[in-house]
Parts: sequence; C-alpha cells; structure tokens
Amino acid sequence: MEPCTFILFGATGDLAKRKIYPALYNLFVRGMLPRNFSVVGLGRREWTADVYQAAVERSLYQFSRRKPDDAEQLNRFLQFFAYRVLDIGREEDYRSLLALVEARERTLALPQNRLYYLSVGPEYFETIADRIRSSGLGAADGWKRLVIEKPFGRDLHSARALNRRLAESFAEEEIFRIDHYLGKPVVQRLESLQQANPIIQALWTNRYIANVQITASETVGVEERAGYYDHVGALRDMFQNHLLQLLMMTAIRLPYDSSSEKVRFQKKQVMEALEPVHQENVGVHLVRAQYAEGSVGGQPVVGYASEPGIPPASANETFVAARLRIDNGDWRGIPFYIRTGKRMKKKSTRIVVEFREPLKQARPEDEYGALPNLLVIEIGPEESISLRLNTKEPGTPETFKPIRIDLHLTPPTSPEAYENLIGDALRGDAAFFAHWDEVELSWQWVQPVLDAFANDRVPLRSYAAGTYGPAESDALLAEDGYRWWFDD
Ligand code: BG6
Repeated sequence: MEPCTFILFGATGDLAKRKIYPALYNLFVRGMLPRNFSVVGLGRREWTADVYQAAVERSLYQFSRRKPDDAEQLNRFLQFFAYRVLDIGREEDYRSLLALVEARERTLALPQNRLYYLSVGPEYFETIADRIRSSGLGAADGWKRLVIEKPFGRDLHSARALNRRLAESFAEEEIFRIDHYLGKPVVQRLESLQQANPIIQALWTNRYIANVQITASETVGVEERAGYYDHVGALRDMFQNHLLQLLMMTAIRLPYDSSSEKVRFQKKQVMEALEPVHQENVGVHLVRAQYAEGSVGGQPVVGYASEPGIPPASANETFVAARLRIDNGDWRGIPFYIRTGKRMKKKSTRIVVEFREPLKQARPEDEYGALPNLLVIEIGPEESISLRLNTKEPGTPETFKPIRIDLHLTPPTSPEAYENLIGDALRGDAAFFAHWDEVELSWQWVQPVLDAFANDRVPLRSYAAGTYGPAESDALLAEDGYRWWFDD
C-alpha cells in the first residue's frame, strides 16, 4: 500500500472515537496500513499532540474490537498521530495545515498522497473542499482522495448542488462516499455469493424468485439525535442510502471477472431500471408511520411525539415500507419490498429471497404443509445465510415439513464496516463506495416520495413500539398474496 497522509476533519468527534481510530488500529495490527503513514487530526479544541494521542489510545480500549495488548506496537501506532487546531472557515488555518502536512511528508519521507476524511456535519463539506483547493493543499504531486459521510444532500436538488461544488475540487474518482452498509462483511460477500455459486446464479431471476424483502429494523428510538432525526426521518436516514444500496447489491448480475467499475456500472443499471413512482401514486406503494408508545424488550417506552426534543405535533416518519419494481429482464414483474423503522421488535438487517411455489401451483387446494423456499441473508447483527427447504416426515407421506440449513458466516471478531471501508479508501478501491450516479438516481426515485410526504398525500400511520410496524405494511404484501418473513 502506498504511503500517505490521512487528514481527519472532526478528529475530536464521536465518529472518530467510535469508528475511525479503532478501524485504523485494526488495519495497523493486521499489517494493512502503509509502513510510512501520517495522521493529522483537526478539530476546534486546543489539544496538543500528547492529549490527542491519549484520546486516540482511550478510544481503542473503549471501542476497538481488538484491545491493545502490546505496548511497543501501540506506541508505534500512536506515533502516526499529529494534531492541529482548525477553524473550518479560516483560509489561514488551511495554509498552516499545508505547512504541517508538508513538513511531516519531508520528515517521514512520504510522497504527497493525501486522503481527506470529512467526519463533520454536512454543512461543512463544501467549505472544506473549497479550502483544500484554494489553500494549495489539493495541488500535490501524489494522489488526493476525499472521503465523506452521509447525508449527501437532503433531496435531489441539494445533492446535485453539493456534487457540483465538490466537483470543483475533486474528480469523481477521487470522491469516496461512505455508506457504511456497503462495508458490512455480509454485504461485501453478496457479490461472490452470486458470482461463485452457479446454483444461486441460475436461480437469480424472476423465473424462480417470487419476491425479495429487505428489512432494516431497529429497536432504538431517536436516542439523543432528536434535532437531526426530526428533520430527516426514516426515508432520508435509511431508505435513500442504505436500503437502496442493498437493493442494488441484491439485484446486480455479475460476471466471474467483475471489477469495481463493473459493480458500479451494474448498480447504476439497476437504478435506471427502477420504475419511478409518481407523487399521486406514492400512497399505493409506500407506507409511512410513526411509533406510538409500547414496549421494547420488555421495557415500556414512550411514543415518538413524547420523546425529548421532538415537537408533540411532529409528522416525521420513523418507519417506511415500500414496494419497488425493477423493469429489466431479470426482475420484471416481481416486487422488491423494503422496510425500515425505529423502535421495532428486533434489531435486524436482512434480505429474504422468496422463491416461487411450484407445489402450490400443482396442488392449489391442498393442505400440503410446504412453505416457499427462502434464502435468508442476515447482514447484522447476526451474520448468516440460511436456506429453507421442504422435506417429508417419514411416516406421514402426505405432509411436507420445512427445514432450515443455517450457515453462520463470521466470527464476532471479523472486521467492522469502517475497517473494510477505510482500508479500501487507502488502497483506492472504490467498489464499495457510492458513485455519484447511484446517489443521484436514488434521490431521483425518492424525490416524488418526499414531495408526496410534504404535500400530505400519504397518511401517517401509527405502530406500537416493539412491533414490526403498522398493519398497512403487512397489507402492502398481502395485496400481492405475500407476507413478510421474519421470525421463521
Ligand atoms: C445510520 C443512521 O446511518 O445507520 C441511524 O443514521 C441508524 O439512524 C444506523 O441507527 C443503523 O446502522 P446499523 O449499522 O446499526 O444497522
């Protein structure tokens, strides 16, 4: 891996502490950081390098999947870290940052390869990108990369405006848009599951599949993020990015020799084939809802509108369920159902592929006891793949019985999403980052839904906390003769 400088905006923040330092540390221990490496942390706090290194060290003990157990190794890791106070809007601060980065490049014999990681609020993205260019930081001899976190805009218009602005300072190949769902180990395996298994590849079409169900259910409520969440809602927070990404990853068709360009090209094609939903039809294909009081894991919890910091009259959605259709040869005619919500019964992100039921077609009136074959891909917190088949109980020749074959994928110590993604960004591999085309096409699909919500064209339903959402979400599938598969 090429030596480089990792320039971290938001170095004193929560994401850095919880995810970024532990990810860097684990990459280091696994020998996946360059030998020559420098991190320059930037923040508003007046910290010295020692205070910064101590904060990094603490974060490892608290959040790293592997705790430091070798003092010499830990010390070598901490030596990478320098700190500088930076006011995001001040041009001079970027010039002095440039001087620091260059001085370290000279001392540590580093080429001018610079990765800028923006672990800050989206309101700062444009200013930082502009200043990187205007201060000369961006005009280095080596490569430059910009890593940004979601949210990438709050609608189609603002996402386009943001992209135009970033494009003044960084080329598309230099922008790495993090969607942490793409870093999840099971999501990273989806590609090979299909590519390397002819039995799956052969079945991966509307000929054998009846529908696909993608769920991301959470048990948490708004937590301490009322100010953010009440302006965002489930559609922007989860659906537009994470869940549409899962849809793309499920629906792509990959050849054996797929490259990151091919993966992204295929994802774009899936999004282009997604049937648009018009504002007046949104209520037919999409359910929005907000949680009411209830009980989660045996504990009573308040409804969304009674959460601290949420206006009692808030019409923000904490749940969405949608039916989407992909109009291409592989998927024409079969529904993809997506749902996500806070304060649901169980924390689980999963993709369920339901296969067609030839048995039912042959013997429609029969109580034959067979259930559809299901391929269940559990993405988190469990990581597993299971297949449900039907078999006959010996001695009961007429009755079928479903059986499950479970495959537990990864030990609890497998790399976390951020570790995978930061490692990829350092290597320059963009396969698991969202390309602008995908982001734009996602917003394009979501925009009429946002408009329909804003114009009150979709009723806001209610569901008791601790359930799988409102009855209307079940009805959405029942209309097509299906049901959500969950605790089966
Ligand atoms: C984040 C959302 O992107 O993803 C949160 O902003 C959500 O609201 C989180 O809780 C869920 O991520 P995970 O990895 O726990 O499924």
